[in-house]
Amino acid sequence: MTAPVGNVYIAETTDEFAIAAAHWIVLSVQRAVMAHGVCHLGLSGGSTPALVFPRLADVLPWPHLHLYWVDERAVPTDAPESNYYLAHRLLFDDRVGEAQVHRMPADAPDLEAAAAQYAALLPTRFDLLLLGLGEDGHTASLFPESPLLGETRLVAPVYDSPKPPARRLTLTPCVIAAAHELCMLATGAGKADAVARALAPDGTVVDCPARLARHAAWFIDRAAAVQMPEDY
Ligand code: 6PG
Repeated sequence: MTAPVGNVYIAETTDEFAIAAAHWIVLSVQRAVMAHGVCHLGLSGGSTPALVFPRLADVLPWPHLHLYWVDERAVPTDAPESNYYLAHRLLFDDRVGEAQVHRMPADAPDLEAAAAQYAALLPTRFDLLLLGLGEDGHTASLFPESPLLGETRLVAPVYDSPKPPARRLTLTPCVIAAAHELCMLATGAGKADAVARALAPDGTVVDCPARLARHAAWFIDRAAAVQMPEDY
């Protein structure tokens, strides 16, 4: 692991990426617990967060955690594509009580009502949100040019996600901006352009929603770092 470049940690291997990200996440969670006795943690889905989850499962202070989702696909909770299913299988399993797990109900038939219902149970602000990065620069289920980038609600339905499935629920930019800490996870050459666009001095959130997390702790691997701005 190289020394961080600003807030970007560049790992030489996937294992090093997962170990470093997990170590930082545990410290972030512990900071929240020491500060106010609990950590409200939001989880993203996808293959990159899945690399880190197994390294967190046995080391997080589970009695003090409340789990939420950054976004969720409109699939059953036992579907492999479900972000809930992924986290349940790789992260929390039976380590927490049901009252600590706040599943995002994207499988509900009425996504508008489900979005309002989930917004009502969110913490005042998240202590930590774990974010993934799409090759198009999306994060959460906030995609380039999406009208949700100007959304005032806390949780919003998505009906036209370019990344299947089309129907989702997502936290919105105001919730991401209000989070106490953000952790962005990205690996692989396919993410290099999005990493560069997100961290570049100039750019817009409309073009690259991951710029919402410019000041996050970024954990990337060498392949995803190849287009990092020289002056970053
Ligand atoms: C989702 C995620 C999404 C994901 C990125 C990265 O539900 O799809 O929340 O934001 O984190 O698309 O996904 P990969 O790590 O699989 O590339």
